[in-house]
Amino acid sequence: MTEPAMTEPESAAAVPVDASAYREAMSRLASAVHLITTDGPGGRAGFTASAVCSVSDAPPTLLVCVNRASSAYAALTHNGTLCVNTLGEGHEAVAGLFGGRTPMDERFAAGTWRRLRSGAPALADALVSFDCRIVGRHAVGSHDVLYCVVEALAAPGQADALLYSERRYHTLSSAPRSGSAPAEPARAVRTVGVRSAEGPARALRSA
Ligand SMILES: Cc1cc2nc3c(=O)[nH]c(=O)nc-3n(C[C@H](O)[C@H](O)[C@H](O)COP(=O)(O)O)c2cc1C
Repeated sequence: MTEPAMTEPESAAAVPVDASAYREAMSRLASAVHLITTDGPGGRAGFTASAVCSVSDAPPTLLVCVNRASSAYAALTHNGTLCVNTLGEGHEAVAGLFGGRTPMDERFAAGTWRRLRSGAPALADALVSFDCRIVGRHAVGSHDVLYCVVEALAAPGQADALLYSERRYHTLSSAPRSGSAPAEPARAVRTVGVRSAEGPARALRSA
């Protein structure tokens, strides 16, 4: 039986991976884009995030990575609740506001909101909103990993998914409806955003 081809391992003396090389490598990944919001005794706050990941469906649990230096951090940890609002095409501007140094009132003025269970603002036209209670927190480097149990869901939006990759926004087109030409690809990615001065560094910092 033939052994699979393997390249030689890097030498033990290899230069360690530096932060900027890591950020550059992470920029190649395509990620969904979310607004993380909270409200309660700690105040109303929110920020744009790509570092969101499902952990388990029993119980439904996800994680969010948040920079402890971000202006939303104190409110999130004080309230102990958050809502993950997944964005679609047309949400590039609100993603920019929540990702920049914009006052909280201006961020929230850019959307229409409702409440699910926790009291955190849920974006009315999000692709999906995961309303959560924070059940665990783990500090890693500059960020906290927040473990969140999902206590309510809403999926009001019909838009194509918004992605962030190569420091730009893109949309992922939905599968064609029946009757489309068979040769048409099932999903197509289209760039919709321009490179922003704020987005890249902030997004990369979040990785
Ligand atoms: C596309 C994109 C994705 C981001 N992902 C994250 C993330 O996962 N975690 C994080 O802490 N910050 C992330 N950021 C940066 C925060 O949105 C930003 O630092 C936050 O709004 C804090 O800014 P403030 O301190 O002015 O409120 C992202 C920014 C952008 C534009």
